[in-house]
Amino acid sequence: MAEVFTKSMARNIYIGGSVFFLLLFLVLTFDTVNNEIPKRDNRENLTEQVVRGKLVWEENNCIGCHTLLGEGAYFAPELGNVYVRFGKSKEAIKGFIKGRPVEGIPGRRSMPQFNLTDEQLDDVAEFLKWTSEIDTNNWPPNIQG
Ligand code: HEC
Repeated sequence: MAEVFTKSMARNIYIGGSVFFLLLFLVLTFDTVNNEIPKRDNRENLTEQVVRGKLVWEENNCIGCHTLLGEGAYFAPELGNVYVRFGKSKEAIKGFIKGRPVEGIPGRRSMPQFNLTDEQLDDVAEFLKWTSEIDTNNWPPNIQG
């Protein structure tokens, strides 16, 4: 080993380190996209009904008030785990949506009536059930969302 730390040694550490971590980054990215996400994203349960439910979700702009797995607006509760919060009951979710709005409680925000058909209600509830079954590493950390 040389006594002095030369410019070329510094350069080799810089380039070698950069290449090493760039490769590590690429390997981990590849592993996440190809191995980890497919295991967690609940794609095996992605039925036609879930897809229809997502459409109901979009057409009625639920995200304009709610968050879903953290993304969205902060006016109303997180819905990524509402299925669990409602005792794993699609009926409870449907009943809730049907029974809105509840007005006249001071300080309480209210959710509008969407006049969804029974089929649309079932579809959107199925979508929320499916969402709750995505493996998010236990996020959100509590049942309230
Ligand atoms: C205009 C804003 C708004 C929109 C749009 C909206 N919501 Fe809500 N939602 C709320 C508010 C406010 C609450 C809480 C009100 C309450 O408890 O009465 C709520 C509560 C809920 C809850 C119960 C959550 C809980 O933990 O108690 C569900 C389920 C829900 N909404 C589903 C939906 C779905 C599905 C859509 C789209 C079809 C939707 N919401 C669109 C405002 C909205």
